[in-house]
Amino acid sequence: MARANAARLESPAVWALCAAPLLLIFYWGFTSQLTANPVEFVLRDLGLWGLRFLCLTLAVTLLAKYANLPWLMRYRRRIGLWAFAYVALHLTVYLGAAHEFDWAEIGADIAKRPYITIGMAAFALLIPLAVTSAAAVRRRMKPRSWRALHRLVYVIAIMGVAHYFLLVKADIRSPLLYAAIVATLLGARLVASARPRKARAAG
Ligand code: HEM
Repeated sequence: MARANAARLESPAVWALCAAPLLLIFYWGFTSQLTANPVEFVLRDLGLWGLRFLCLTLAVTLLAKYANLPWLMRYRRRIGLWAFAYVALHLTVYLGAAHEFDWAEIGADIAKRPYITIGMAAFALLIPLAVTSAAAVRRRMKPRSWRALHRLVYVIAIMGVAHYFLLVKADIRSPLLYAAIVATLLGARLVASARPRKARAAG
């Protein structure tokens, strides 16, 4: 009974946790706490949450598959979609609030700044992952192709970190931290998937 109640609360709790950073931005907006440069603040906060949710998606897959926590798999899609949402909002703020949809200026920025070029490429790669995460689309794909496509999330996370590295001016501690997190998650995945199936089955 207690387990059933906990399970019922689990899903809304995951929703609330995923939405919390966005709600916090709205709260800061309504209470005039978005610093002297609100556009930059919101742009950066959304970018950072996009990267955090990408890392979380990788961690969930790893823990569900290799740390014997299969129930986590229920939330992988949702967390991945939140990563997409944060990055899409990050891009929207860049296009709308920072550049007022001035496409000539935006095109020049993409061509001129390598961190924008990489960010755009990472976002473009995220789109097929978001589209094929829909159950109906997934059912139509071969499981092998679907898995191969969704392994792109590692490439996207690496591109997100590269984007971050290239945009910081002096203090590289934060991008370095995310580089270490992504490297650890990727390393752990490679080690775990290299373990022979038999050994995994034995525990
Ligand atoms: C997977 C895709 C992306 C990820 C993970 C990501 C992540 C980030 C992160 C972590 C930051 C730094 C936040 C901070 O300083 O605290 C950032 C900043 C920024 N990103 Fe992205 N981003 C992505 C895509 C994009 C795209 C598509 C654009 C626009 C075309 C973009 C434009 C920017 C800009 C303009 C900044 C702020 C630069 C500055 O303040 O000097 N990003 N992003």
